[in-house]
Amino acid sequence: MSTSKPVLLSGIQPSGQLTLGNYIGAIRNWVDLQADYDCIFLLVDLHAITVRQDPAVLRQRCRDFLSLYIACGIDPEKNLLCAQSHVAGHSQLAWILDCYTMVGELNRMTQFKDKSAKHADNINAGLYNYPVLMAADILIYDTQLVPVGNDQKQHLELARDVAQRFNFAHKEEVFRIPEPFIPPVGARIMGLQNPEAKMSKSDDNEGNGIYLLDEPKKIAKKIKRAVTDSGSEVRAADDKPGVTNLLNIMAAVTGRSIEDLEADYGDSGYGRFKGDVADAVVAFMEPMQARYRALQDDPAYLDGILARSAEQAN
Ligand code: TYM
Repeated sequence: MSTSKPVLLSGIQPSGQLTLGNYIGAIRNWVDLQADYDCIFLLVDLHAITVRQDPAVLRQRCRDFLSLYIACGIDPEKNLLCAQSHVAGHSQLAWILDCYTMVGELNRMTQFKDKSAKHADNINAGLYNYPVLMAADILIYDTQLVPVGNDQKQHLELARDVAQRFNFAHKEEVFRIPEPFIPPVGARIMGLQNPEAKMSKSDDNEGNGIYLLDEPKKIAKKIKRAVTDSGSEVRAADDKPGVTNLLNIMAAVTGRSIEDLEADYGDSGYGRFKGDVADAVVAFMEPMQARYRALQDDPAYLDGILARSAEQAN
């Protein structure tokens, strides 16, 4: 990693299974931006332990996610691919930032409210302080750009507020104020069965998500069974959340604009449209999954990337 370019940082929690939403909302943009920035892509394993984890499973999942980052197009030679727990500075800075974060701010975090409802038997302090650790991940490297999906926007705003408060208190520009990068299309990919809620890594309804390691046949089946809306017109609109979601997915994996897709599919019915969405997603998935499988055969290579990246990050 050179030091001449601005720093870009992002991360994913190694929990559940990576979804097409994580790819479209985050990883795809990392791939596009990697040439212009010094990048750090994290596997945020310390964030993952806010929910109970089996250590061996978590360690393996970090390798699996790392393989997926690379299979999706992240270059491990030009970027740092780190496990958060391998760089102690993240947790050390988190404590300092805790002392500059207001309880009232943390109370407003919608993800904390959602996660507390989901894990009512384990509302631990880590879950509450989670956004402060995320702020530390970002601020410790003088990060300029943070590409994330829409659901992380609030956390990023908190990171900016805390950095500004710290700088103001010490009358010095200690932390750079990071900017979010939220993609214009695909910042919030919704569930296929419930297009009112986001597609999630840990969804109890398997048909709701497309997972990056789903077999192509299964992916096609899930897309063909996706909930669509009344009428038959292929058009993005608030009253058509199912079709709008499929349009976003297709636009993201093909690079075509929503308008172009609307013009192409307009009145031709949902059948042809869904078939083509499925083909487009599978055309992306197949070569990516082949690269993933090849990487899985070489755990020593993956561990080497993590060790080398952690050393440089430290
Ligand atoms: P996480 O692991 O929940 O999600 C990883 C990334 O995927 C995006 N994403 C989505 N984008 C579009 N549609 C969806 N349905 C969808 N679901 C998830 C998320 O917005 C995110 O960009 N706290 C973070 C991880 C983190 C982090 C950081 C991110 C820790 N430290 C520092 C950036 C910078 C999280 O839990 O993301």
